Amino acid sequence: MFADRVLSGMRPTGRMHIGHYHGALRNWVRLQEEYECLYFVADWHALTTHYEEPGDIVASAWEMVIDWLAAGLDPNRSTIFIQSRVPEHAELSLLLGMITPVGWLERVPTYKDQQQKLADRDLSTFGFLGYPLMQGADILIYRANLVPVGEDQVSHLELVRELARRFNHIYGREPGFEDKAKAAVKKLGSKKAKRYDTLRTAFQEKGDEQALVAARELLEETQNLSLGDRERLFGYLEGSRRVILPEPQPLLTATPKVPGLDGQKMSKSYGNAILMREDPAEVTRKVRTMQTDPARMRRTDPGNPENCPVWPLHQIYSDQATREWVVQGCTTAGIGCLDCKQPVIDAIIREQQPFIERAQRYLDDPQLVRNIVADGCERARTLAEETMREVRGAMGLNYD
Ligand code: TRP
Ligand code: SF4
Repeated sequence: MFADRVLSGMRPTGRMHIGHYHGALRNWVRLQEEYECLYFVADWHALTTHYEEPGDIVASAWEMVIDWLAAGLDPNRSTIFIQSRVPEHAELSLLLGMITPVGWLERVPTYKDQQQKLADRDLSTFGFLGYPLMQGADILIYRANLVPVGEDQVSHLELVRELARRFNHIYGREPGFEDKAKAAVKKLGSKKAKRYDTLRTAFQEKGDEQALVAARELLEETQNLSLGDRERLFGYLEGSRRVILPEPQPLLTATPKVPGLDGQKMSKSYGNAILMREDPAEVTRKVRTMQTDPARMRRTDPGNPENCPVWPLHQIYSDQATREWVVQGCTTAGIGCLDCKQPVIDAIIREQQPFIERAQRYLDDPQLVRNIVADGCERARTLAEETMREVRGAMGLNYD
């Protein structure tokens, strides 16, 4: 515990498009090379906004997970699971709710934004207000410290961090903390104990952040500690309380914005998406009929890639030389738009080939996906239970 752990989730939206791939999934796949990763289907989150017409959440979840696997998520490296199948998320959400001031939730900027944006729905519900709180439970229950999310979710992460701090502040207190922490330091063995003390002093007396980081690393590398002692040693670095729920950080990886076929945000519901596993003929058709710079009414009219939704696709899919060819050809009317689009079409089809191949076995045998998710839910539950035992105990609910 408290070693690097990545967690992220997506609402079940069914088949994924290339915007999901380049905006998030590609990064998820990369992260599993380096970290322990947990990825989940946020089905309860879907209900916070779509409670009146939930649609087929289950079917959407399976479709989405197939595309996660198609993108290259490896169930041997990443734990893939479904939020509602780990009901401990709800328990933690409820318990965190006890210490969550309503004002904190009302002040999360997405709360009012989304209410305005989705004005056709009544989002004056408790569930919708609690959206970021539930997200907090999703993260904190695994003590995940790294959360890959988009810019729009950063305010949620900030709330989650505040909740973690508040939780530790209220429930991390224990009688005789100092003595227990000192006893735990001894258990590190004399060499590590000395180093821990030195680093702790450097942080506490001189505010040396590097020392704090180094001390945390030292603890991460130490295996033979009980959970309670770990919480004490992490907490003792900074203060006089156990760190039961560590604060997570957003992982903001620069991801390209993928516009839809009409230049708007790519979304299945706008009908402007290229799916991750699209028939090659369909990719060709969609890109060929894509809008371009309106200035290029005729083949002989010069254009400007900056005003063209095809251009961001070149930025994702084309190399430098091709991009120079586009700029040159577009601004001088040296190439036609169909010429310009062809390298993008080729690159998308090439990129999708492995997705289509990987997905095939799951389409042939849907039970495989169910098994992967069942395993993932079980692994997730084991981790979640471990945290919940600590949380229940800290909040005075230990009946064992
Ligand atoms: N709110 C996220 C979104 O809409 C999905 C989500 C739910 C999530 N719980 C999470 C993401 C926890 C990261 C961590 O994209
Ligand atoms: Fe867009 Fe390419 Fe046509 Fe220029 S040539 S308008 S960049 S499609």
